[in-house]
Amino acid sequence: MSMCKFYAVMALYPVIIYCKEVLNSNKICDQLSENLNARCYIKENLASLVHSPNQLAFHSVTNTLYFGFDSGLGEYLPAVYNIDTKKLTVLKGVKDAFAMASDANEVYFGGSYGIYRYNPVLKRLKRLGVSNLDIWWIQANAKIYFIKFPSLRLYYYENRQIKPVPQLRNSTINQFVFDSDNNIFFINSTGLFGVKNCSNNVILIKDNPKFHGIAVDTSGHVYLCSDDGVYVIGKMLQKVKLVYNLSGVLGMTFDKDNNLIYSDSHDIIRLKPVSSQ
Ligand SMILES: *[C@@H]1O[C@H](CO)[C@@H](O)[C@H](O)[C@H]1NC(C)=O
Ligand SMILES: *[C@@H]1O[C@H](CO)[C@@H](O)[C@H](O)[C@H]1NC(C)=O
Ligand SMILES: *[C@@H]1O[C@H](CO)[C@@H](O)[C@H](O)[C@H]1NC(C)=O
Ligand SMILES: *[C@@H]1O[C@H](CO)[C@@H](O)[C@H](O)[C@H]1NC(C)=O
Repeated sequence: MSMCKFYAVMALYPVIIYCKEVLNSNKICDQLSENLNARCYIKENLASLVHSPNQLAFHSVTNTLYFGFDSGLGEYLPAVYNIDTKKLTVLKGVKDAFAMASDANEVYFGGSYGIYRYNPVLKRLKRLGVSNLDIWWIQANAKIYFIKFPSLRLYYYENRQIKPVPQLRNSTINQFVFDSDNNIFFINSTGLFGVKNCSNNVILIKDNPKFHGIAVDTSGHVYLCSDDGVYVIGKMLQKVKLVYNLSGVLGMTFDKDNNLIYSDSHDIIRLKPVSSQ
């Protein structure tokens, strides 16, 4: 199953070519705002990988980043990067952590063996008692929501049962998030869609550029990545604005100070703001 997923990832993200700057300057500045001052960032490389993950999760209480990496044996293992100690470890006991998400207390892993729930403070790992579940993408928003593989349909977990999200029963979904108002945003190969909290209408927001990834920041704003950059959805829905001039971004999350952490085809990078002078 994991090999299928790997090929599916290749199909979803066709050719991403990553070029390291010749001068290897890690400071980048972009002029995306009308403001004359460029915003500048230092690119902090947190990890380098052969196959980069498309879902990352950050646990603020322990200041740790979670991401899956290909073990080479057809399974993804969960890696844990502690921002304070800069130590990279592998969390033992999870069979296949392809998808991952976090909330204030827990980190969730999904893969060919279903869903695991991990409390990083108590170091308690538990597999949810649902069999025959292959997870493509996962989010925690009071309940655990996830996309099943290979159907790419959205479900949630409640009272030891798996239930479809009614409004999206017939939608093929590659990735989704909830914003701070509990609206659902999702992407599939047709485009970016939104479903307002309590509404049954699935609205097409944008079908150009093609978005490969979606994530939500610490204040509940929704970010998207395409081949040419990282975008944010404005509070006035339907407005999608370019915010980071970065190419080849595959997966995104945000640290506790709301700095962007992203993966491209080789690396996991954190953008730390610096003054433009
Ligand atoms: C975006 O990045 C590219 C390549 O680094 C650069 O040539 C271009 O000027 C940048 N655009 C903006 C608006 O900063
Ligand atoms: C899903 O498809 C079924 C069968 O075509 C239809 O009866 C149902 O109304 C659809 N549901 C939604 C939410 O679109
Ligand atoms: C993406 O989702 C929309 C909304 O449900 C649907 O109309 C469209 O067919 C989907 N695209 C694909 C490729 O499944
Ligand atoms: C809408 O959001 C509120 C909280 O803002 C939540 O309590 C409610 O369950 C949400 N409704 C749906 C259908 O998700």
